[in-house]
Amino acid sequence: DIGGDASPSFIMVVGGLGYIGSHTVLELMRANYNVLIIDDLSNSYESVLHRIRALATEHFATLSKSVPTLHFQQLDYRSPLMRSILASYSIYSVYSKPSAASTGRFPYSALQRTDSGIDMEPEDTPEPTLRRESRITGVIHFAAYKSVEESIRMPLKYYMNNVCGMVEFLGLLEEFGIKNFVFSSSATVYGEGANCGVPLREELCVHHPETFCDDDGFERQAVPGVMGLTSPYGRSKFMCESILADIARSDPSWSITALRYFNPVGCHESGLLGEDPRQKPSNLIPVIATVLTGTKPVLDIFGTDWNTPDGTAVRDFIHVVDLAQGHIAALAASAAGRIKSSFRTYNLGTGRGHTVREVHQSLQTTSGRTIPVREVGRRAGDVGFCVAEVRRAENELAWRAKKTLKDCSVDVWNFTKGQCPTTGEVPDGMEY
Ligand code: NAD
Ligand code: WQD
Repeated sequence: DIGGDASPSFIMVVGGLGYIGSHTVLELMRANYNVLIIDDLSNSYESVLHRIRALATEHFATLSKSVPTLHFQQLDYRSPLMRSILASYSIYSVYSKPSAASTGRFPYSALQRTDSGIDMEPEDTPEPTLRRESRITGVIHFAAYKSVEESIRMPLKYYMNNVCGMVEFLGLLEEFGIKNFVFSSSATVYGEGANCGVPLREELCVHHPETFCDDDGFERQAVPGVMGLTSPYGRSKFMCESILADIARSDPSWSITALRYFNPVGCHESGLLGEDPRQKPSNLIPVIATVLTGTKPVLDIFGTDWNTPDGTAVRDFIHVVDLAQGHIAALAASAAGRIKSSFRTYNLGTGRGHTVREVHQSLQTTSGRTIPVREVGRRAGDVGFCVAEVRRAENELAWRAKKTLKDCSVDVWNFTKGQCPTTGEVPDGMEY
């Protein structure tokens, strides 16, 4: 425990062994936070925990400092056991208001002797109360299912985990007085509005029908409306943001930040942490990695007729370590009182777009291997353009993404190359 404190405080990271969670836990530890991870391993592996520990230990060894505490509970965050976990991270103390006798309002002689010989206090002697204070000073909530395609087939699975799970969980946190909450949201909440072709400002998606005046002075309807979003997954994120906004509005003692991730890519430079899901990958760079390892013969490029410089879609790819640091910045800004409202959304992106072809080329160059492609039609629900306007996060969180697409490619190749064929090029001409 840091500084030998007998009751250290913790940040609880729900879904902390997943792709973004694992990188965030490491950054939290590097920033001296003790961490409690809750993860049911539905899309991750326990080995990730050992890798985080090894990287944190190595980091603090070079500084000759002790390593912050890392606790892990393998548990569905919807489990009733969550209550006993939160109870075990609470400090209890007995509090008695000074009694009238001790404050001199009654003379001590007012205590009565009864037949049984027991002293009774005067009637208004206050009952001692049990006080509970949580050692969990903040929660980062990553746990959710995230496959767009599966959410269309199995919407209930998504609403149950992503929406109902979060609602129940917030009730429990409120019961324990834990009101500092960071939520994993997504650029998906901009829905088809992303296609506007300019970097997206947070105000473009708000949580109750309202209009706002754009920079050009025109009044616009801000809400795409949940049905304007392209999947149940996307709607689940929009619904969560709306629920969080309502809670914060009703009780301003909450501090809630919804971080809208753009396209998280890359991995830790050590090659020890990365994107290693149980689910079959469908995002661009994980799919390219499966082509590099030979698991998949070819990269399908979905759509070459978008209104973009090379016809393929443009995305704002943000390195996962930059993204992880955005969470630390959000916690720090909240603790320092720099976030002025009880609910606030922030885009976490780079503010720069790259096309699918640029990503493909970058990984070819970095790996020195040919990555075969096949041009196919657009994927249902895709947008052609999605790039963040990042000024709000820069100004209020004092955070900015630093890494480039090239950094992402170098780290992804470092993570992937061990699983690739050692000689020759990626096999092509395979059946597909
Ligand atoms: P991930 O699947 O790698 O991580 C999620 C983790 O949560 C996994 O370890 C999984 O085992 C765990 N989990 C899921 N349901 C759980 C439950 N009920 N109880 C306990 N643990 C549970 O996903 P990720 O890419 O790290 O994404 C993290 C969060 O960020 C998600 O909320 C996701 O929707 C959001 N997000 C991700 C992206 C992206 O492209 N990766 C983009 C925008 C937003
Ligand atoms: C990027 C571009 C594809 C795979 C998704 C979710 C979003 C968020 C991040 C969680 C698109 C193209 C992809 C392939 C391709 N997740 N592509 N061939 O669609 O921007 O966002 O992940 O919140 O909600 O929708 O990311 O990486 O899937 O796609 O051509 O095999 O790459 O069509 O244009 P996307 P992505």
